[in-house]
Amino acid sequence: MDINSRDYAKQQDEQDPLNKFRSQFIIPSKADLARKTLKHDGAGQEESEESTYLCGNSLGLQPKLTRSYLQQYLDTWATKGVYGHFKAIEDTNLVPFMNMDEDLQEDMAKVVGAKPGEVAVMQTLTANLHLMMASFFQPTKDRWKIILEGKAFPSDHYAVESQLRHHGLDPDGSMILVEPPSKTSPLIPTDHIISVIDKHASETALLLLPGIQFYTGQLLDVRKITAHAQNKGIVVGWDLAHAVGNVPMRMHDWNVDFAVWCTYKYLNCGPGAIGGCFVHERYCDVTSANGAGPDGKPKIQYRSRLAGWWGSSKTSRFDMTNEFQPIPGAGGFQLSNPSVADLTAVRASLDIFKQTSMEQLREKSLKITKYLEDMLDLLAEEQDKSFGRCFSIITPRNPTERGTQLSVMLSPGLLDSVMESLEEGGVVLDERRPNVIRVAPTPLYNTYSDVFNFIEVFRQACEKAMRSKDSQAQSTIADVGRASKGWSEVK
Ligand SMILES: Cc1ncc(COP(=O)(O)O)c(C=O)c1O
Repeated sequence: MDINSRDYAKQQDEQDPLNKFRSQFIIPSKADLARKTLKHDGAGQEESEESTYLCGNSLGLQPKLTRSYLQQYLDTWATKGVYGHFKAIEDTNLVPFMNMDEDLQEDMAKVVGAKPGEVAVMQTLTANLHLMMASFFQPTKDRWKIILEGKAFPSDHYAVESQLRHHGLDPDGSMILVEPPSKTSPLIPTDHIISVIDKHASETALLLLPGIQFYTGQLLDVRKITAHAQNKGIVVGWDLAHAVGNVPMRMHDWNVDFAVWCTYKYLNCGPGAIGGCFVHERYCDVTSANGAGPDGKPKIQYRSRLAGWWGSSKTSRFDMTNEFQPIPGAGGFQLSNPSVADLTAVRASLDIFKQTSMEQLREKSLKITKYLEDMLDLLAEEQDKSFGRCFSIITPRNPTERGTQLSVMLSPGLLDSVMESLEEGGVVLDERRPNVIRVAPTPLYNTYSDVFNFIEVFRQACEKAMRSKDSQAQSTIADVGRASKGWSEVK
């Protein structure tokens, strides 16, 4: 069957073993997106077509379970008050508030390839990055540099810059920025990263990189880069914002020192929801040292960190003794009692992820992203034969070097018009100025038909943008013509 046909997309959807998951999500309708209110206003109530939502790389869609779990949380709070913290309730899917963070560890650990104790659902991504650097960035006079990418997500850049200043270091010269080696491609090949590591190895304390680069969608070789840097005595942390729930990872086996992530993208936990953190088990020990402290009690030894009461042992947490006894593992890096509303949303999300595996999701992701790529290539060929090609894919063509997102670079000046047409056509995706759109077919809820719809709307969006660019150029030529005529007349 011709892949460039709606029937082909439908056939792929029918054969998709994960197609049952779409019905577990709320897909905004085109009318939902167009309306200025939350509710229908009464008129024209007929069912509206679903939108084409390809923006899970930015904000994942809402699982239907989330509302029902949040209602259970609200009911527990309403009817049990403070007892909700510790009394088990029979007719809810949720554990007592106090145990919810622990309850999530095992399922979250599966998503990132860790042992349950190595993972904590806590804080937010940037806050976790700071907490991890407070523990893992310990500059000395010999090793004080941090290597990160030149086009890191701004929050990561600010976090690193401010940590350096916090230690009294000048970011100029202490922040080593890995830039793409080629002027024509924004990608950073592994060999290039390794050469930067080698150049600065003896003075570098920390390497911080993204599992998947937010702009290009490039999937980095976490295992190889981690091993290489660690061999040179460098601590290695990863920002998994765009990798978590997108590609299978093995944080423990790859011996990563620490990692941080958010849960609002591929994990579908809602805007600004609580984040996640991985700390390798070799840093997780909490031991009683020989001998006693000045007060006669045994001293406890653990990795240094910024501490808060929620990181302290559950058995003594409410003793109010002011003696910090960290929970062994990533849980010992928590600060505050976490928002139960957030944890509830994470519970709902992981109850979906539990029904499949990252390997199964990856299998679909590889296929659906390849389909998107093939369809874009066909469209590009079509454009070559008519008004000229007006986009190129900047994400690696090698499927092992990308997740589910393809970043598409438009010719200069087309972005606003293309985005406007996509919105009019009910296609949701995001842009990175000046001229990139990011298209992410998310395996849990996107269909091959979504990709087909996108291509249809994108084809027309490009045509319209090119036409209006041409007519603007024509009128500019005419204006210049008039202006120069005017000038010569004046002269
Ligand atoms: C790669 C990356 N790092 C950091 C952040 C900031 O996350 P937060 O606002 O949750 O701290 C984001 C947000 O999208 C991101 O994509």
